[in-house]
Amino acid sequence: MLNGKTILLIVTGGIAAYKSLILVRRLREGGATVRTVLTAAGEKFVTPLSVSALSHEQVYTDMFSLTDEAEMGHLRLSQEADLIVVAPATADILAKMANGLADDLASTVLLAADAPVLVAPAMNHRMWRHPATVANMAALEARGVQRIGPNDGSLAEDESGPGRMAEPEEILAAVEAALGAAHRPLAGRRALVTSGPTYEAIDPVRFLGNRSSGKQGHAIAAALATLGAETVLVTGPVALADPVGVETVHVESAREMLAACEAALPADIAVCAAAVSDWRAGQVADRKMKKEDRGPPDLPLTENPDILATLGRSARRPDLVVGFAAETENVVANAQAKRARKGCDWIVANDVSPATGTFGGDANRVHLIRADGVEDWPRLAKEDVAHRLAGRIAEALENENRESLRAEAAE
Ligand code: C5P
Repeated sequence: MLNGKTILLIVTGGIAAYKSLILVRRLREGGATVRTVLTAAGEKFVTPLSVSALSHEQVYTDMFSLTDEAEMGHLRLSQEADLIVVAPATADILAKMANGLADDLASTVLLAADAPVLVAPAMNHRMWRHPATVANMAALEARGVQRIGPNDGSLAEDESGPGRMAEPEEILAAVEAALGAAHRPLAGRRALVTSGPTYEAIDPVRFLGNRSSGKQGHAIAAALATLGAETVLVTGPVALADPVGVETVHVESAREMLAACEAALPADIAVCAAAVSDWRAGQVADRKMKKEDRGPPDLPLTENPDILATLGRSARRPDLVVGFAAETENVVANAQAKRARKGCDWIVANDVSPATGTFGGDANRVHLIRADGVEDWPRLAKEDVAHRLAGRIAEALENENRESLRAEAAE
């Protein structure tokens, strides 16, 4: 998708610079030529050697080395780029760009640039929120500089807030969008994704919950959005940032989750990845239950609505309904039965027996169960499971489109 494109990547000094190495790889996998400028501070975090090994191109670190005839001058470096990407973009480089400073190779290239510029800011949340940075960013955006992120989440120094550099996949999607090269087979489709656990109140302070982290569901919402779907994510309480480019609705209980899903219809695609609590307290105490009152309480439970089954049988059923099955034994057989029982088209079955580390972990080994067979996927990062699943969804809807066009033509 990026074949024939030249990206000039400017890596400035921030802890997020290691993620720029992954970005280099992703850009090259997409077919781009990647030339990199490393600032002096950037070199403190990644080495020219590691960048050039991944980019298969020379890395430029010093303005004065470019005066050699045999080397590429800074004007050529920026003129030959289809897009300049600054990732990570520190508060310092944003300030230089906003004010037209040119005291090193990176800032000089940026000042001489005709190519469009995309920045991926990364810094401490206080620096991001400082009026100076806010004004610099606004000035740059007013001049047409594009921005991806920063995301909200945990930062270096054990702090959290807005300031995390966007993930390489998100930057890649922004690069593709900036170059008009995005592969967006789900453009024009609406997707609904559930994620995370639900919390079912027992009294004002206690709840029934589960250990779902929401990582898989959030990654699926982000992957569907990357392929162009207008995506609504309905999530229970999680410690994750809202995915970029996804409308995120926060709920607590299963009943709230169902209501939010119904409000998000119509949709073409529904992926239910939430770990919805099967039961809730029959009666929620309106005051904190006290140990002294009467010893351990009786806690009669009542069944929660099944969101997946409700969507699967709804009059406004999405064209493609995908459920998850977390199993600890007979994974495929149980999941196949669940597919029929819940009225969904596909089930993504995963083994969550404690030894697999799936819950809260970053990887997942799944089987995709469809009416016509089972695909066993290798153990993959949850993001990669998400991208594969989003790809399969896009293929299925494209095929369905083709078939309905063929049927129409035959009529
Ligand atoms: O029956 P079980 O909980 O194993 O089914 C898992 C699948 O059903 C998941 O896709 C989950 O998101 C969905 N589910 C739901 N509402 C419930 C229970 C499960 O949407 N109340």
